[in-house]
Amino acid sequence: SIPVLTIDGPSGAGKGTVSRAVAKLLQWHYLDSGSIYRSLAIAVLQAQVALEDLAAIKQIAEAMQLEFDCGDVLLVRLAGVDITSQLGTETTGNVASIVAAYPEVRAILLQKQKDFQQLPGLVADGRDMGSVVFPEAEFKVFLTASAEERADRRYKQLIEKGIDANLLQITREIEERDRRDRERATAPLTVPEGAIYIDSSSLSIQQVIDVVIDLVHK
Ligand code: CDP
Repeated sequence: SIPVLTIDGPSGAGKGTVSRAVAKLLQWHYLDSGSIYRSLAIAVLQAQVALEDLAAIKQIAEAMQLEFDCGDVLLVRLAGVDITSQLGTETTGNVASIVAAYPEVRAILLQKQKDFQQLPGLVADGRDMGSVVFPEAEFKVFLTASAEERADRRYKQLIEKGIDANLLQITREIEERDRRDRERATAPLTVPEGAIYIDSSSLSIQQVIDVVIDLVHK
């Protein structure tokens, strides 16, 4: 079967950077599952639907037409419109984690994610890649770091992008998002069975990439 490497973990652990680098080195496809939930969040915000209105959110998830362009920079189009620049904001991330808590929404988005499993292989980045979407994956990683370290990285990322940010607020939002991702009933964030556990608090990105590449090449 087509090889899959899953990289799961909490917000700001460095999954995105590591996954993209590893996919590039292996020349495998890359699934940024968070961007699917983020795209849904943008669609829901655009439609000005209440976050409690599950029926409307389900309808939007079902109708959502997503295209991904996998160059060096991820490009996402929603119904033909480029929404890449809106994907990274904290509002989008917070709304994504709220709509992602609905089991019905996760079920609708499941097949869209499975479709990414294509030759020669796939690196899948998210919260439930190794546990729910690709439980049969040959290689599994759980990547985490302390909450302070993750908030600090996220803060620097936003500043680099020229987005106004507040470290204290980001720390609070990361803790809130962690709690929501861990405590939800469906596909909560857990260490998948068979995953290697990496705490990147005191590791460089390159060190993490080396560990992951070793796992695949072993
Ligand atoms: O890295 P960060 O948490 O900022 O964002 P992300 O990975 O793009 O995910 C945004 C939100 O989508 C997360 O907080 C999760 O609640 C949700 N998500 C999920 O439920 N399942 C996934 N496989 C990926 C993301």
